[in-house]
Amino acid sequence: MHKIQFPENFLWGGATSAYQCEGAWKEDGKGFAVTDLLTAGSREIPREFTPVEKDCYYPAATAIDHYHHYKEDIALFAEMGFKVYRMSISWVRIFPNGDDEVPNPAGLAFYHKIFQECKKYDIEPLVTISHHDVPLALALKQDGWLSRKTIPAFVTYCKTIFKEYQDEVKYWITFNEINMMTNYFGDIYTGGILSNGTRYLDIAHASEESLSADKMTKRFTALHHQFIASALAVQVGHDINPDFQIGSMVAGDAHYPYSCNPVNVIEAQQSMNRLWYCGDVMVRGEYSYASRHYLKGKGVDIEALGITEEDKCILKKGTIDFLAFSYYTSGCHAVDEHHETTAGNFSLGVANPYLKKSDWGWVFDPQGLRWMLNELYGRYHIPVFIAENGLGAIDEVSEDGKVHDPYRIQYLNEHVSAMRDALEDGVDLLGYTWWGPIDLVSASTGEMKKRYGFIYVDMDDQGKGSLKRIRKDSFYHYQKIIQTNGSCIE
Ligand code: BG6
Repeated sequence: MHKIQFPENFLWGGATSAYQCEGAWKEDGKGFAVTDLLTAGSREIPREFTPVEKDCYYPAATAIDHYHHYKEDIALFAEMGFKVYRMSISWVRIFPNGDDEVPNPAGLAFYHKIFQECKKYDIEPLVTISHHDVPLALALKQDGWLSRKTIPAFVTYCKTIFKEYQDEVKYWITFNEINMMTNYFGDIYTGGILSNGTRYLDIAHASEESLSADKMTKRFTALHHQFIASALAVQVGHDINPDFQIGSMVAGDAHYPYSCNPVNVIEAQQSMNRLWYCGDVMVRGEYSYASRHYLKGKGVDIEALGITEEDKCILKKGTIDFLAFSYYTSGCHAVDEHHETTAGNFSLGVANPYLKKSDWGWVFDPQGLRWMLNELYGRYHIPVFIAENGLGAIDEVSEDGKVHDPYRIQYLNEHVSAMRDALEDGVDLLGYTWWGPIDLVSASTGEMKKRYGFIYVDMDDQGKGSLKRIRKDSFYHYQKIIQTNGSCIE
């Protein structure tokens, strides 16, 4: 029995990203992002980047056409009672080439319309400034985030949107899951692999062990440039509007030892450094011993990242106001014996025998959310925000025309209960945005059938469907949770 209630102003809502939901990839002056060119299924980027002519299906082209359905979608979010809508601005809608002299007025106008719609329903927007989608032009011209030249381009983009939307948006996240840069998605999300025409999969799906020290150094250099860009954005944003709350985000998967064998305990502890590496730089404003230790373990010499004295000052001055994180799953570490491994967007080690798995093999671990909240808040003592959590599952429309998804309801209940446990523990938790409150394109597989939504979208993996929206059973359940401010969950 819980003694504590969710705070009155708790931000309940949902999260999406531009390239996974907007579609309209060539409309109103939008440029291309690297993520627009990810094919369905294998998520390759064709060697020739000519999306228009290619006989190839790109899920980002239409996605769920939120660009034209935003009014209907936001009305459905409002019907569930959302207090917050986490969405991302597409950099290339604002600056089609990433570093244009002037912003694209149609791009700016689109997000005004989104924010006006949110305002109509008292929904607070939470804006991710960069959710994977590096401008293709910058990737081709200068290897994306591998180049320092991408930093001023990003800061100009930030300044532009901060000024433009300062009266409409208070909460910002500079980068989505910034620690993903350290794994196989890193190359695509930094845009660093394109200018030499190398196929994404050739490098990005290589195991970390098989990557050369040079390649690893490049990943971490690109990440360093993002840290600097994020810190500068925090400073610029606070100058423009001191009331802005500017955070950044990490993927917060839990790492446990598989057994109490101390070698496994140490391995699990070391694995958490992937998260602390980024958290420490952004919250504490410096490369801590954990960051240095992590780099060393990857065979990267910190001196090779080109960190200047000026960079160090920027990091110190640009620490974030809150730390957002995604939480989906957990994994175990066993170096003493061999076990079946578990799935996720990170390599999470060994599967936990106590936990069930999703259709995509991601284990559910609600208690791990409480664990993670305590870890993050205990280490950093700044407010935390669950920016993503959700269940990707295969949903069917029943003969009655409805979608019955008791598995999602159960997943939601258990995670809400874990949040409440963490509140009782004393964690300062600002809010919770369910990933994909409406079905959207999966980041890792490009599928539509990996559905997270409370709202079903009639669209399949080949881009066919009426795009009709259907409220699933979980829609009404989340509505009840929000209506009762979580108290309907024990
Ligand atoms: C997070 C990303 O890693 O996980 C989202 O921020 C992504 O963009 C989500 O969609 C779920 O992953 P997937 O691969 O199931 O879509």
